Amino acid sequence: MRRLFKNIKGLVGCYEAPPEWLAGQSMAEFPVLENAWLAVEEGRIAAFGSMTDFPGITDWSGLEIEDCEGRYVLPAWCDSHTHLVYASDRGGEFLERLQGKSYQEIAQSGGGILNSARSLRALPESTLLADAQHRLQRAMDQGTGAMEIKSGYGLTLEGELKMLRVIQALKEENTIPIKSTLLACHAIPEGDWDAPRWTAEVIQHLLPQVASEGLADYVDAFCEEGYFGVDELNKLLEATQQMGLRAKVHVNQFTALGGVAASVHWNALSVDHLEQLTAEDITALQGGLKNDQGPVFPVALPGCSHFLSIPYTPVRKLIDANLPVVLASDHNPGSAPSGNMTLVVQLAMVKMGMLPIEAIAAATINGAAAMELSHEVGVIAPGWRANVLVTTPMTGLEEIGYRFGDNPVEKVFINGILR
Ligand code: NIG
Ligand code: FE
Repeated sequence: MRRLFKNIKGLVGCYEAPPEWLAGQSMAEFPVLENAWLAVEEGRIAAFGSMTDFPGITDWSGLEIEDCEGRYVLPAWCDSHTHLVYASDRGGEFLERLQGKSYQEIAQSGGGILNSARSLRALPESTLLADAQHRLQRAMDQGTGAMEIKSGYGLTLEGELKMLRVIQALKEENTIPIKSTLLACHAIPEGDWDAPRWTAEVIQHLLPQVASEGLADYVDAFCEEGYFGVDELNKLLEATQQMGLRAKVHVNQFTALGGVAASVHWNALSVDHLEQLTAEDITALQGGLKNDQGPVFPVALPGCSHFLSIPYTPVRKLIDANLPVVLASDHNPGSAPSGNMTLVVQLAMVKMGMLPIEAIAAATINGAAAMELSHEVGVIAPGWRANVLVTTPMTGLEEIGYRFGDNPVEKVFINGILR
């Protein structure tokens, strides 16, 4: 399969030798080559350049031409935070919120994550997989070209393993790179558990099995009042490090407990949510920039802020602090029932004041880095996967945010193949 994208108005994120991520002001320097061409062979980016010195076509065999007149071509979205595997929607809880209850009140009365855990227990693994597969296909249609997926609705040893096996099957059955995360410490299971005892159980009985069977790439926990505190987080992340794994941590969604500094201490790959952010958190993240293994990526989830009507992550502060901001969907049945990364990018512009190019960099190159996939997705570079989006005709990239409610993604190519 060979494909030539020609007359591209702007080829976004193109490099001969790409960096792994962009931090602070350099996010606004994500390159855009105007009036460009892009060649794809065998599912990979082969070459790109300016139409003004287009070398011409010598070999027409099997070549498909995509005329992109007036359109931008972008790397496909890299969604580094999802809870894609779940048993059923929670529209009823949404209605309860519209009638006046808060997300936290619903959770405290046994709804929320515990509600999802109860329905997951009842569902056969095959149905769970089929439903997740359907959601994944939809996200790909909407432009996602790489994804991280968490467990966390099992909340028993067997339930968590069941979820991880479903994610494993999704990895095997799909053509985009997928990373899996063990989120057993997502809520305190029903019954005779408390946070310290469930964390100890996970450390003793689940983590070693998951690590030895290679069932998860990362470990996560929900560090929040009423869920898991900094003590539990420290213990879990120490054990995670001993198993040779890195963490991606839910932190500062409603309260800043000190989980950011703990995550930096244990060299987590990312800290996600950050709707609440203190000066100490920013200082801790800046300390993490000196890390040998790369930064601790701050991940903003504007879909969750939108859907729960909670503050948006102050990304301008993070960018001013020279940090590599990431955008992800948080796709889950409770706080963000959408995997549409284009909407995430639109919200980032309108609600968080990100420049179009910063938002795109956060949802592509930096999203890839927050899944350790910088070597294959997130940019347009020779040898990288040809996972790209073609926009509708537009005058500038700001139209992605300007025409809210419209879908600015006209075509999606995964490994060079049109969806
Ligand atoms: O990232 N906050 C914790 N976990 C998810 C929501 C889980 C749910 O409500 O089902 C989140 O927002
Ligand atoms: Fe989440």
